[in-house]
Order: sequence, then C-alpha cells, then structure tokens
Amino acid sequence: MQAAFNSLENSMSEIVKYGATFKWLHWFIGIVVILMLIFGRSLESLPLSEREQIIMGHSGLGTIVLLLMLLRWGWRLTHEPPGALETMTVFQTRASKIMHWTLYVLLLLQPVFGIFQAMFITDYQVIAFGVIDYSGLAAADEGMEKIFHVLHGVTATVISVLVIGHIGAAFYHHFHQKDSVMKRMIPFGKP
Ligand code: HEM
Ligand code: HEM
Repeated sequence: MQAAFNSLENSMSEIVKYGATFKWLHWFIGIVVILMLIFGRSLESLPLSEREQIIMGHSGLGTIVLLLMLLRWGWRLTHEPPGALETMTVFQTRASKIMHWTLYVLLLLQPVFGIFQAMFITDYQVIAFGVIDYSGLAAADEGMEKIFHVLHGVTATVISVLVIGHIGAAFYHHFHQKDSVMKRMIPFGKP
C-alpha cells in the first residue's frame, strides 16, 4: 500500500488543488470530529439515562465518520493530491505527510474502537441513531469494554493533539509563509 502512496505522491506535482468532493469530505469530517472530541469528554459525567440518549447521536455520527473515512481512503488512493509547494522545506513536506497519514489511520481506528466498546458495554445500550444496535452484537463483557474504552479515550487524546498541530500548521502557512496551502483546501478557493 505504501508503494501505491509513493507512486501517487511522486507523480502529483502538476496538481495544484484538491478536488471539490475531497474538500467537502475534509471539512465535514473535520468539523464533526472536532465537535465529537470536545463533547465526548463530557459524556462520562452525565447520568446514565441522559448518556444513553446522547450516545445514540454520538455513535451515529461516529458511524458516519467511519463510512466517510472509508470513502476518503478510496478517494485518496485513486486521486492525485496537490504536490509540495516551493515555500515548503523538506522537513515540512515530510512532517505533513506523516501527520496526514497518521490522521487517516487514527480516524478509522477511533470509530472502530467506539463500536467495539459499544458491543461489550455493560452499563447501558448503544443504539446508533436509535437504529443500529451495537450492544446487541455481543455479550456484555466488562474486561473487553474497559480495553476499548481506554483505546477510544487514548486515541481521542492523540487525535486532539495532532489536530491542534495540524490547524497550527495550516495557519502558519497562511499567515506566516503566506503560501497557498490553506487556499487549496478551502472550497471555492483559488490557489
Ligand atoms: C480549522 C480546522 C482545519 C484547517 C484550517 C485545516 C486545514 C487543512 C489544509 C490547508 C490541508 C491541506 C494541506 C496540504 O495541502 O498539504 C488539510 C489537509 C488535511 N486535513 Fe485539515 N484542517 C482542519 C481540520 C482538520 C481536522 C479536524 C482533521 C481531522 C479530523 C483534518 C485532517 C486533514 C487531513 C487528513 C489532511 C490531508 C489530506 C490529504 O492530503 O489527503 N483537518 N487540512
Ligand atoms: C471519529 C469518531 C469518534 C470520536 C472522535 C469519538 C470521541 C469520543 C470521546 C472524546 C469520548 C470520551 C472518551 C473519554 O473521556 O475517555 C468518547 C466516548 C465514547 N464513545 Fe466515541 N467517538 C467516536 C466514535 C464513536 C463510535 C462510532 C461509537 C459507538 C458506536 C462511540 C462510542 C462511545 C462510547 C460508548 C463512549 C463512552 C461514553 C461513556 O463514558 O459512557 N464513539 N468518544
């Protein structure tokens, strides 16, 4: 798979911006994930009955993120992304590639860990949007629930740190380096 990424990235220099579908996927997933990271942390302090209701939305949105990330992986592996700009140092080019691919992997793992947590959960039922009964898929198991609860929480923390760095880098490009990195990701933007 790495070979596929490399061959795509080596031959991409003539592409100057992301396609419209890809941009909308970036912004939709990005906003939903930021909201879930912020509000997810307050879930544990809610009474069980309220938590069960809110988790219906949380798990439903998380399922949508999972499906869209699968689409995004497919899109990314079959379409050439824009190449590195002249303003970017070798360090920036490498760091952004590592950052982007780490996010791609973690944004798949995060909802998968959530689903496994939901399958084994002991305190309440997780029914995404009141339709997909994840808790009915396996017998409740406190040990397994704990493992996936910790994985879901740790991955959320790592994604939060990466996203803060990612947004910082985007603003650094836009306001300090004054290049077109931000513009080529903005819908309707002209790099
Ligand atoms: C205010 C918030 C955000 C801004 C300003 C922003 C900005 C950008 C920009 C400018 C790029 C293009 C980088 C380039 O061309 O080299 C990009 C790519 C990317 N962003 Fe964001 N982003 C934001 C939020 C997020 C969030 C929350 C996530 C993850 C959930 C995310 C994940 C990614 C990924 C994975 C890429 C790489 C796309 C690819 O090349 O395949 N972004 N972002
Ligand atoms: C990208 C998608 C997702 C993000 C960003 C996310 C984020 C979070 C965060 C930040 C927490 C709090 C963790 C903690 O404080 O330890 C949490 C808890 C939780 N999430 Fe997710 N989640 C996602 C997807 C899912 C999915 C798909 C499911 C289930 C199908 C799910 C089920 C849960 C459950 C059951 C909890 C525990 C609530 C409790 O403490 O009772 N999540 N999530």
